[in-house]
Amino acid sequence: MQNAIEVVPLSPILGAEIRAIDVARVVSAETFDRIRAAWLDHLVLLFRDQQLDDAALVRLTSRFGEAEEAPLFQGRRFVEDHPEVMIVSNVTMDGREIGSLGNSEAFWHTDLNFVEEPPAGSFLYAQEVPPAGGDTGFANMYAAYETLPAALAARIEGRRIRHDARFNSAGYLREVRVPDTLHPIVRTHPETGRRSLYLGRRANAKVENMADGESDALLDALWTHATADAFTWHHRWRAGDLIIWDNRCTLHRRDSFDASQRRIMHRTQTRGNRPF
Ligand code: SIN
Repeated sequence: MQNAIEVVPLSPILGAEIRAIDVARVVSAETFDRIRAAWLDHLVLLFRDQQLDDAALVRLTSRFGEAEEAPLFQGRRFVEDHPEVMIVSNVTMDGREIGSLGNSEAFWHTDLNFVEEPPAGSFLYAQEVPPAGGDTGFANMYAAYETLPAALAARIEGRRIRHDARFNSAGYLREVRVPDTLHPIVRTHPETGRRSLYLGRRANAKVENMADGESDALLDALWTHATADAFTWHHRWRAGDLIIWDNRCTLHRRDSFDASQRRIMHRTQTRGNRPF
């Protein structure tokens, strides 16, 4: 069965489920190449009923690219033996949070947009999920760019956004100060050659060399367009789901969930390029 993959689109705009595969145990390069091609075509891949420990998650990540270390959390590693693994969770153990982002909403963003070389791929594996809430939404930034009104497209051509690193996607102030980074508003995907919007996150973003009021109005118009329902698909998680998204041409967000429920997700990422 490991050579036959079934690619089932999840929505008209992005996302596909890869069926009939134990993704950690794909051995043939040919099958893996088909999975990777589906990822570039559909931007977000879902694999159900996977059994991945951290070592298997890191191994799989490394087949897609160079697995990067996760940022430190409150000065410590999420998983001592696997520095590439970040935990996204509201669970506490011995009075300490085991992961980041808590149970509140995470606003639309791309991962680590404020670093010089944001990750190419993000891998999120669900260990425990709440019975309701905590869904994750994805938005297609190729489509958002390709459907921009001409006047808006003309206004952003050659422009850059100053990406601010102070707040995470749940609105919490980061402890470590990271300098702002400038990236083009329209970036070219290094593998597909397609152009997409690259907005990062809305909070504290500024268009370079533009007055604050004008920058805010332009960014608001871009965000309203980019996150319209027509460009998005939302995933209701089951334990054992693995989702891999292309962080170069998508945005994602997460719904809040009841604080008394547990949600434990393990995340890895692959090294990306400086957007151009
Ligand atoms: C994230 O925003 O990177 C995590 C998304 C999620 O918890 O579903």
